[in-house]
Amino acid sequence: MDMSYSQTKKESATGFIKKLLFAAVILISFGSVTARGNTGVDTPPKAAWSFNGPFGVFKRDQLQRGFQVYKEVCAVCHGLDLVRYDKLAALGFSEAEIKAIAGAHDVPGPLNEDGEPTTVKATPGNAFANPYPNANAARAANNGAFPPDLSLMAKARAHGPDYIRALLTGYEAAPDDFGLMDGMYYNRYFSGNQIAMPPPLADNQVEYSDGTPATVEQMSNDVSAFLTWTAEPELEIRRNLGVKVMIFLSFFTLLMYCLMRRTWRKIKHSKK
Ligand code: HEC
Repeated sequence: MDMSYSQTKKESATGFIKKLLFAAVILISFGSVTARGNTGVDTPPKAAWSFNGPFGVFKRDQLQRGFQVYKEVCAVCHGLDLVRYDKLAALGFSEAEIKAIAGAHDVPGPLNEDGEPTTVKATPGNAFANPYPNANAARAANNGAFPPDLSLMAKARAHGPDYIRALLTGYEAAPDDFGLMDGMYYNRYFSGNQIAMPPPLADNQVEYSDGTPATVEQMSNDVSAFLTWTAEPELEIRRNLGVKVMIFLSFFTLLMYCLMRRTWRKIKHSKK
């Protein structure tokens, strides 16, 4: 009886080891498949953003520079459909400045008396003007590729701002055996390594009013920080609230602990 019991135990143990080995083989082969699928696409390096961590905050001057890069470079092709001009107040722009920024753009207006579409000057309440009237026009201007809206890009892609920064600085000559298609550019960080976006930045492409040297690296950092703000303008509030909740909870735990000690001390005394 004992004998057969230990035998079944032994069998079930070997069965378990077999299953474990099987699972390991499956996992390893799965891992190698995904690794092969990603060949050539590098993981974006981590940057030390001011908004990282529980006490993270945006730097207003960096956001302003990032907005300038967006406005002068990226806005030619990319929309920011979910951002209204008046939100720029959070970057430190005055009401008059925002009015001027908005007023420089035309947005679709009401139909005229002949039923034809019109355009009007954008007001601070408008969303950022889109560079193209529709998606087909956007594709036609970009070799068939659609320049995606950037409002939520920092949230939509893995590694968020690190990815955008890496993408903007990740252009290089394609390896000889790569087979780059016409009108495409080799990029270390873009999935598949070929992207339809021409390298958008070159040194000194913008002139920063605060005198910061406009290197490709600097502009990439600034615009990535700006796009993190457009994707999550409430980031600082959320983080601050988190810290406050943690402080409150620690205090509350301490209070409850003291209360518990007091209550039990009384009960022990009454037992005596
Ligand atoms: C000349 C037009 C043009 C300009 C200027 C431009 N882009 Fe693009 N961008 C594109 C196109 C087209 C795509 C789509 C690429 C594709 O799908 O191959 C794209 C894609 C992207 C993507 C998405 C990549 C992904 O993972 O899908 C990001 C992020 C981006 N651009 C950021 C920027 C930023 C930031 C700037 C300004 C510094 C900028 N772009 C300037 C045309 C442009």
